[in-house]
Amino acid sequence: MQKDKIYFLQKSTESKDIIEKLKFLANQFKGKIAFSTSFGQEDQIITDIILKNNIDIKIFTLDTARFFEETYKVWENTNKRYDYKIEAYFPKPELVQKLVSEKGPYSFYESIENRKECCNIRKVEPLTRALEGVDLWITGLRAEQSQARNELQFFEYDEGFKTIKFNPLKDWDYNAVSKFFKENDVPYNSLHDKGFISIGCSPCTRAIKEGDDIRAGRWWWEDKSKKECGLHEAHTEATVKFDTIK
Ligand code: ADX
Ligand code: SF4
Repeated sequence: MQKDKIYFLQKSTESKDIIEKLKFLANQFKGKIAFSTSFGQEDQIITDIILKNNIDIKIFTLDTARFFEETYKVWENTNKRYDYKIEAYFPKPELVQKLVSEKGPYSFYESIENRKECCNIRKVEPLTRALEGVDLWITGLRAEQSQARNELQFFEYDEGFKTIKFNPLKDWDYNAVSKFFKENDVPYNSLHDKGFISIGCSPCTRAIKEGDDIRAGRWWWEDKSKKECGLHEAHTEATVKFDTIK
């Protein structure tokens, strides 16, 4: 069933450009289509395309409450530039309160389990709420970003979040991303000019050096192969766990 739907979407959009693809999908999934932004370069491109072309797609962010100050500025500038209000999903206060009271504000540096616990509370659980009633979830993922993302497809079914995922920038390389910014006046995170390429929460992101992996600045103290936070893992234990918390 999902396979047929994905095949149909793939076939119907393969000859369209990104604007036409998004328009087609907004029409197919009226009121049930959403784009998640963390205000990185890829996400700003998709936001620009959606809002400049008045495409009816909800745009939301998972505000972990640990973003960089610079990221909040991009958010604010984006709202103003396009006269739009990006919707915010926050973690459940009782879960953050318990975590920080019991383990302190930097528990994520101590072990992968602790790090995933924090990502689950601050990102994965809010995402399950953001995606309620959403049948098509758009992300800014690119295949080039990491080994784990090499196999990325334009359309995928996400078993964990029970939604079809669409990755319109799948084939874009970093040059194409940079070119878009040169050619379009799009709000941009000033940290990108200071060596930050992939940007997440402030305590878990640092600048990289030339030649480093694009995601080397994310959770830099961890093994490369384990660096996903649960948003983009097919089916996470966290999702199952949070199903029972509601
Ligand atoms: S992460 O899983 O390692 O954090 P990454 O930062 O590469 O992901 O971003 C990939 C895509 O995940 C983004 O393009 C965006 O669609 C989504 N995403 C990541 N973090 C957030 C967030 N805090 N809020 C909303 N969407 C997010
Ligand atoms: Fe917590 Fe760091 Fe994950 Fe942000 S990236 S949710 S601070 S562990």
